[in-house]
Amino acid sequence: MTRPKTYITRRVPQDAIDIVAAACDYDIWDSEDQPTPRDVLLHAAANADGVLAMLADRIDAEFLDAAPRCRVVANMAVGYDNADVPALTRRGVLLTNTPGVLTETTADLAWALLMAAGRRIVEGQKLIEAGRWKSWSPMFMVGQDIYGATLGIVGAGRIGSAVARRAAAFNMRVLYHNRRPSAELEAQTGAQYRPLDDLLREADFVVVLVPLTTETRGMFGAREFALMKPTAVFVNIARGPIVKELDLVAALQQGSPGAAGLDVFENEPIGADHPLLRLPNVTAVPHIGSATVATRTRMATTAATNLVAALTGQPVPNPVNPEVLGNDN
Ligand code: DGY
Repeated sequence: MTRPKTYITRRVPQDAIDIVAAACDYDIWDSEDQPTPRDVLLHAAANADGVLAMLADRIDAEFLDAAPRCRVVANMAVGYDNADVPALTRRGVLLTNTPGVLTETTADLAWALLMAAGRRIVEGQKLIEAGRWKSWSPMFMVGQDIYGATLGIVGAGRIGSAVARRAAAFNMRVLYHNRRPSAELEAQTGAQYRPLDDLLREADFVVVLVPLTTETRGMFGAREFALMKPTAVFVNIARGPIVKELDLVAALQQGSPGAAGLDVFENEPIGADHPLLRLPNVTAVPHIGSATVATRTRMATTAATNLVAALTGQPVPNPVNPEVLGNDN
């Protein structure tokens, strides 16, 4: 029997390659730090029955035109805004993602950014490195209390719930905003529902976790930042385009919100000259929400398992558009 042909768009942990290699032929863009160039991806797609893709790969009509045999795209991410889902569905191509396996790790990073921005950790290190630490002084490098503060979570799904659970250890009041209130979340975490504007007015820490969709693109702009407390810390660990970045720069310059912790940016990767990096009240990291050895390994093996299952007629664990599958999945 001929084995399915697959393409893996970036170096992934060996465990994932082993899963693919056991059932499929594969080719790989074996680079740690460079995404598959577009022309290479389109060329490779021509012969692939399935692709294990990253969130840097645009899976759109052009890709699908170049990939006539492709039956599955297994995204190694929980988010899939890099893929045109309606276009995939129209052509009967399955998309899969990696929900669940990165929840706690990403919640940890939300907290790391919340704490680092609130307590000016990176700014403090830069100040020492610049030789600007002159003495202890009563109001030198003062930040915001975390213990006992109000946490506002915008988009309280799996990761948002995990962020909320951690807040109990800090005796925080937790507010959340979703499209609909969730009795389950409230019972599990004691979080209270608020309309978005009320949450922004009340929260000391605002953590954004909504997926990027046409509704959430540009959801945070000058109006929303103006509602926040001047002392508030804004954390975005979801997707960059949810925030109007120039509005955020202006708001941080004007001092409301007071600080930001950012894992994601409008156009990634950003360079050293990005305007946000010139602001002392910004803590920025390069989209590393899920970046631990264990979690990235789980994400890669989950994507590989989805890919192989789809190509070998097994039940697919994480279909995004299950309507393209037969009823027996
Ligand atoms: C995801 O899975 O969507 C994350 O952004 C990857 O870290």
